[in-house]
Order: sequence, then structure tokens, then C-alpha cells
Amino acid sequence: MTIVSRPSNVVSFLGGSITPPSNPCTHGTPRTVAPWTGEPGTVGRAVVVGAGKMGLPLAVQFARHGWTVTAVDVNHDVVAAINEGRSHVAEEPGLAEGVGEVHAAGRLHATSDAAAAVRDADVAVLIVPVMLDDAQQPDYRYMDSAVDSISGGVHPGLTVIFETTLPVGDTRGRFAPRLEAASGLKADADFFVAFSPERLYSGAVFANLSTYPKLVGGIGPESGRRAAEFYDSVLDAEIVAMSCSEAAEFSKIAETTYRDVNIALANEFARVADRVGVNVLDVIQAANSQPYSHIHQPGIGVGGHCIPVYPHLLLSRAPDLEVVSTARRTNDAQVGNAIKALEAQLGGLDDVPILVLGLTYRENVKELAYSRALPLIERLSFHGANVMAYDPLLSTEEIERCCATPYRWGQPAQFRAIVTQTADKLWEEIDFSLFPKLEVVLDGRNSFDGNNTLRWIDLPAGVRYMGIGVQDATRRRPADAPGATR
Ligand SMILES: NC(=O)c1ccc[n+]([C@@H]2O[C@H](COP(=O)([O-])OP(=O)(O)OC[C@H]3O[C@@H](n4cnc5c(N)ncnc54)[C@H](O)[C@@H]3O)[C@@H](O)[C@H]2O)c1
Repeated sequence: MTIVSRPSNVVSFLGGSITPPSNPCTHGTPRTVAPWTGEPGTVGRAVVVGAGKMGLPLAVQFARHGWTVTAVDVNHDVVAAINEGRSHVAEEPGLAEGVGEVHAAGRLHATSDAAAAVRDADVAVLIVPVMLDDAQQPDYRYMDSAVDSISGGVHPGLTVIFETTLPVGDTRGRFAPRLEAASGLKADADFFVAFSPERLYSGAVFANLSTYPKLVGGIGPESGRRAAEFYDSVLDAEIVAMSCSEAAEFSKIAETTYRDVNIALANEFARVADRVGVNVLDVIQAANSQPYSHIHQPGIGVGGHCIPVYPHLLLSRAPDLEVVSTARRTNDAQVGNAIKALEAQLGGLDDVPILVLGLTYRENVKELAYSRALPLIERLSFHGANVMAYDPLLSTEEIERCCATPYRWGQPAQFRAIVTQTADKLWEEIDFSLFPKLEVVLDGRNSFDGNNTLRWIDLPAGVRYMGIGVQDATRRRPADAPGATR
């Protein structure tokens, strides 16, 4: 955007993202105790059930703060990797070093025997996915099985903490009774149960752990206290003790549903921007210079096993929430809208060769769950297009298995359209001379304009640019991009 008079001192941001300052570590050397009862300055033995993209960094974080940690996973390859001091999650900065470090220090090992691990532990953190079934209702299969797997190890004094996002009321209403029934012990009296949402962003987990306030709510006061003391011993961020587990559960559903609704609004604004011939990103950036405005970014859809899932966890208990369900539908309709725009531009899709770039739900995260690339490819193919796809995080076999004919990066091809579904840095290196028949680039993340992490990307003459609320006619070079005019 052009600065007309003088630089503004108002923080104007595009996309609603801000970087909070990180808290310094103020932990002294902890005292190891057995059993651990939540006394400040003490540590004990912790178990993390589900050593995936979130669970493994948590295990490292706990171990770095003096806890002796057992990671539990049903995947034997995951267990074997951890026991060799290796991270099976390649994309998380700092994780490989962290696993190596705490494993070498003897504070992290892994097992598939959840009950045995929990029997020896003071704290058990559960972080296995809760997904959706075909009717968009919570699919508890992983969490039920994780809860059942630890129940044989539940003992007096144990604190069980759920970090997986759950429908409001599940910690108290579904899982605590299950643990009570299996163990014969009383929750919040003999053992303790709390909820503390995982709020981290893949790719920035360790940075987030030192900045994002940790919300904690117990099913009773002692459960809440022990869980809060546990997090106080392992995190440098503020610990927010909430009134109950339901408040903590709801806060996570609220923050993520807000983001889904916000993005849906940005997607509607993008449609209006196209109609009136303005650049939606200029509009959003300008609007967000008013400190109460936090409009997110429009895009080809919302993917991943978080943001598109959690509104449904809310709707499963409150189906009357119209804004929430409309937002979900709006975001899911973005793929169809993009296909319609392509169809109009190309005069039909039958037999049209199209390259889809980016299959994971977003760049730098190897996760296909709820990726919008899957319906995108399915529907393009349904309309007759010949789709090939590429993703730097996936092998050709993985691409073939998930959804499309793999494209070999750098090969000449007759594509008439390219659709980007992620904002991968690699797109900066696209050699457009390989695609002499190219007519249109549909930039599904508005990432070619120097707005996100990518620099400005020029298209060859005659190739039409179509973003989401940004078009050839409204595309704006940032002031520092080559060829920009002020
Ligand atoms: N990934 C994110 O960006 C993110 C962000 C915030 C919160 N979360 C929360 O974290 C949860 C987990 O996400 P993730 O990305 O770590 O998932 P993931 O798929 O990377 O990891 C889940 C792990 O759990 C293991 N597992 C499954 N069932 C098990 C069982 N019964 N016992 C033991 N292990 C079992 C799997 O083998 C896998 O290693 C999500 O459902 C969500 O609630 C995720």
C-alpha cells in the first residue's frame, strides 16, 4: 500500500496474525520428588499419550524442564524412532535436536504399553486426535482407545490432562467416568482430571510454547491446581487457571471457531472485492489499521485437522448456531467457487490439463487430513480435467496413493492452468517456460504477491492471474518488489 503522507504508527497487519513477545525462562533447578503432588519447584514422571506432531514436542518440553518422560504411541515406528533418539516429525524446527538432547540425557523414552507407563507416572497428558465421522459428529475412536489403554495404570495421586480439543463437557462427562469405572477410583479425590487445550501452530511449536498463555481447567479445584502447577513447572508462558474444565474446553473451541468464521467473512469480502474491482488484501490491511479489526485472509478453503473440525465439535452440541454452520459451508464452498472461476476462464474443463501445487493442508506441514486439495482434485477430475499434482513434502507414491497423478518437478508439460493450494516457498522457483500452453494461474492462497512468505512472482505475458479477491487488474506489487512503482 502506498504511504501518502507519513509512516503510520498504528500496527496494521494483514491476516490478523501477531507475534507476541516470548517469555524468558525463569525456572530454577527443580527438585525431583516421588510421588509428585504439585508442589512448586518440584518435578516427577510424566507420560505423553500420542507422540505425534504435537505430543512429541510436548514430551521434549517436559523433559527439558526436568521431568522424566515416557512417550506412548500405538505406532511402533514412532516408538522405535524415539528410543533411538530420533524425531519422526521432520518439519518441526528444533524438534530433531530436542529429541536427541533429552533422549541422550536419559529423560525421554517411548513405549506402546500405556498402562505400564501410566502406572509409574505422576502426570499423563493425552494428545491423540478426535476427528469427525461422515455425519460430522465427533469420532472418538482414537481417544476412547487411548483412555482405555491408560485405565489399567490409573492410581491414586495421578493427574490425567486432556490436551486434544474436545466438545465442551467431555473431560468431565465422557472421560473421567470412563477412567473411574475402569480403575474403581474417584476422580478429583483419588486421582485428578483436567483439560488444557493445545493451541500450538505446527512449525512454530517451541516458540509458541514460550509465548501462548496456557489455559487450564480441572473437573474440581484440586484437579485444576495440580494441572496448573504441572504446566507452571514446564512452561515459561503465563498459566491461566480457569474455573472448570468446561471453560477451558470452550475457550479452545471458541478461538478456533472464531478463526473459521473470520476466514468465511474474508472469503465473502473477496467475492465483493472481485465484483467492485478492488484488491481485497488492500482492503483488509486498511481495515485492520483500526485496532478493533482483525480480519483474516481469504483463500481456497480451510484445511487441517483443527480449524475445519472444531466448529463441528461445537455444532455437535449446539446445532442451532447459524453463523458457525454458515461459515463452515462458506469456507467449504471456496473450492467450488475456484473451479467455477477456472471453468469460466478456460471455457470448460473437459480434457484440460491442470497442475495442482500443494496437497498438504498447508505448506511445511506433512498432513493431508481435511486438506482442501483432495476435494479440489476430485471435483476438477469430475469436470473432466486431467489433473497432475506436486507437493515437495510428498513422494510420488504418496501423491498417487492420496489423490492424483504425480507431476515431476521441472518437467515440461502442456498445462493450461496451475492451481496453488498451499503457499510453498518452492513456487518462487516455478519455471513458466516449461508450460508454453499456460493460460491461467489460480493462486489459492494469494501468495504470489509478496503478501505471505513468498516474494512477488511475475507471470509470463498472456497468463492470467486469479487470486481470491485479487485479480490481474487489482494485483499490486509491494513497494519492495522488482518493478514496483511508488
Ligand atoms: N497439529 C496441529 O497443528 C494441532 C494444533 C493444536 C492442537 N492440536 C491437537 O492435537 C491433537 C493431535 O494432533 P497431532 O497433530 O499431534 O496428531 P498426529 O496425527 O500428528 O499424532 C497423533 C499420534 O497419536 C498416535 N495415536 C493414535 N491413537 C493412539 C492411541 N490410542 N494411543 C497412543 N497413541 C495413539 C498416533 O500414532 C500419532 O503418532 C489434535 O487432534 C488436536 O486436538 C493439533
